[in-house]
Amino acid sequence: MTARIIDGKALAERVRGEIAARAAGLAARGEQPCLAVLLIGSDPASAVYVRNKVAGCEKAGIRSLRFDYPADAAPEVVMAKLAELNADPAVHGILVQLPLPLQFDEAAVLEAISVEKDVDGFHAENVGRLSQNQEAFIPCTPHGVMKMLESEHVPLSGAEAVVIGRSNIVGKPMAMLLTNAGATVTVCHSKTRDLAFHTRRADVLVAAVGKPRFVTGDLIKPGATVIDVGINRLPDGKLCGDVDFDSAAAVAGAITPVPGGVGPMTITMLLENTVISAERAAR
Ligand code: GUN
Repeated sequence: MTARIIDGKALAERVRGEIAARAAGLAARGEQPCLAVLLIGSDPASAVYVRNKVAGCEKAGIRSLRFDYPADAAPEVVMAKLAELNADPAVHGILVQLPLPLQFDEAAVLEAISVEKDVDGFHAENVGRLSQNQEAFIPCTPHGVMKMLESEHVPLSGAEAVVIGRSNIVGKPMAMLLTNAGATVTVCHSKTRDLAFHTRRADVLVAAVGKPRFVTGDLIKPGATVIDVGINRLPDGKLCGDVDFDSAAAVAGAITPVPGGVGPMTITMLLENTVISAERAAR
């Protein structure tokens, strides 16, 4: 069997077209969506992500404000900026790129962002709302995965879903979304005793491990839908996912590539959350 490729790039382009139209409509009413992005420190991967987020905003007609701080920035300075942005009615979304330097209390920073402007969905109140299946800003990567599963008509109600990874950014919210969609969800992680036992039962397998080509074909149930959240850089400079694409594609029914899979959807959902926030402000 050779898996169907789930084209995240094409889906992202389609959804971004719709987002741009909504942003233009808001701008015409004097409420141009605006996202503020804070980058603290000089992590090269974070710098690339922030650059792509700002570029994505520009293409969609969303205004972006970028604030850069050195790695030794005082937390009070960043907290003061967050308070200012919370109070600014022209700002609809606020994002602090993670990870933060060690002098920062990450939870305190995320909770200093107004719940209404928390377009990353990392504030404890949004996490709590998601866990209760209430309306909330949903973290962008797992939200993008759900959009891909939806557009591919992957049945989730009653399905066995396995998520590898338990991070606050991907694994945990992914598990909550799949649970809310009616799947029977197992979360595997570095302490899981028999990974293959779990993954081989999965109709939907989401890999968010952060290890290149970790999920090989022998871990996959024939015909399963495999979603690869990983973005790893190999020594030769090439990008690869957490899934060993060739061996996995020989077994899976459908699979996301890296690059061109989940990655483009993540920023798309950030743009959508920013537009949703602006639409609420315009009401
Ligand atoms: N670091 C890695 N992924 C993310 C993300 O989705 N949002 C933020 N703010 N930081 C990240």
